[in-house]
Amino acid sequence: MAQQVKAVVARAKGAPVEVTTIVVPDPGPGEAVVRIQACGVCHTDLHYREGGINDEFPFLLGHEAAGIVETVGEGVTEVAPGDFVVLNWRAVCGQCRACRRGRPQYCFDTHNAKQRMTLLDGTELSPALGIGAFAEKTLVAAGQCTKVDPAASPAVAGLLGCGVMAGIGAAINTGNVGRGDTVAVIGCGGVGGAAVLGSRLAGAAKIIAVDIDDRKLATAEKLGATHTVNSTTTDPVEAIRALTGGHGADVVVEAVGRPETYRQAFYARDLAGTVVLVGVPTPEMQLELPLLDVFGRGGALKSSWYGDCLPSRDFPMLIDLHLQGRLDLGAFVSETIELDAVEQAFERMHHGDVLRSVVVL
Ligand SMILES: NC(=O)c1ccc[n+]([C@@H]2O[C@H](COP(=O)([O-])OP(=O)(O)OC[C@H]3O[C@@H](n4cnc5c(N)ncnc54)[C@H](O)[C@@H]3O)[C@@H](O)[C@H]2O)c1
Ligand SMILES: [Zn+2]
Ligand SMILES: [Zn+2]
Repeated sequence: MAQQVKAVVARAKGAPVEVTTIVVPDPGPGEAVVRIQACGVCHTDLHYREGGINDEFPFLLGHEAAGIVETVGEGVTEVAPGDFVVLNWRAVCGQCRACRRGRPQYCFDTHNAKQRMTLLDGTELSPALGIGAFAEKTLVAAGQCTKVDPAASPAVAGLLGCGVMAGIGAAINTGNVGRGDTVAVIGCGGVGGAAVLGSRLAGAAKIIAVDIDDRKLATAEKLGATHTVNSTTTDPVEAIRALTGGHGADVVVEAVGRPETYRQAFYARDLAGTVVLVGVPTPEMQLELPLLDVFGRGGALKSSWYGDCLPSRDFPMLIDLHLQGRLDLGAFVSETIELDAVEQAFERMHHGDVLRSVVVL
């Protein structure tokens, strides 16, 4: 039977979000209903509320979540009721041209639930990133549920579902950071901080954190940055070059999403180095670079979506490393809050006060 649960909905562009009752259908074929235990507040939720993603209001927000599978629909074999799962927005199809070439991390046709959750009056909701987890329960495609070790705290595990995975993966999957590399990370919020952590995990020799906020630089040091640069007072390109024998870093991760920080990343990397853009630009932003520099400096200019992760491969592995004390995922949980405090959490995120506020249910 369809269930009524409390959830956070954005009804109109720019309007404060509200906690309201929604209707969650029983899972159909290939679907699962998950009882949410924790869900992080991500910048993308705010982008949805501000109409920056699309106009398909009302949105059911929240997408960095962990919980317990409650029921599954026909034909679901990969998860069962009672499983502890992290929700993902890359349930790969196995059929598209990327999947067929053995590159499922780029899947172009990822799965979401086919049925829609609704408001009480029947209005269909658009779940953020096909998840919608600021809710007591949510309906997803079963492939969006990735089983991980239940010994992990839900507040910590859920963060792997988006920003933390995006940052770690930008460094280790997209940037291919390896033992002995020099790395610079520009913008050390939740995503950039995770890129610092991922670089340390991969054995980077030098990790240079750049931000405009000293609080973020202090956190980056805890996560593994060996050097910090406040770019409001120091030219980050000069500073990164000075710290790398005058050459620039092997890999520079841009985790802000602005033309000026991208340009810094471009010139702060060594010849034949790699730039990874993980920050999300807005539609009006333009980038101008001398084409001769693009050519002459060689190397790779890459973008990273969701850290080029494969949830089934990466989530359980990262949770295991965390449980062994080798990956401090707990550092990203700045505070835990109730479902009705998401609007205030947006405010704190906007002021840079937190890495992540996490709704715990
Ligand atoms: N590619 C993906 O899959 C993916 C996934 C999640 C988030 N993101 C994007 O990553 C970006 C970062 O997200 P977040 O959650 O870490 O946000 P955040 O607000 O927590 O962090 C942004 C950081 O950048 C710093 N910053 C701002 N302007 C700067 C500048 N000019 N120079 C240096 N640092 C500057 C801020 O002080 C802050 O520490 C956003 O654009 C977000 O949309 C991308
Ligand atoms: Zn596919
Ligand atoms: Zn997110």
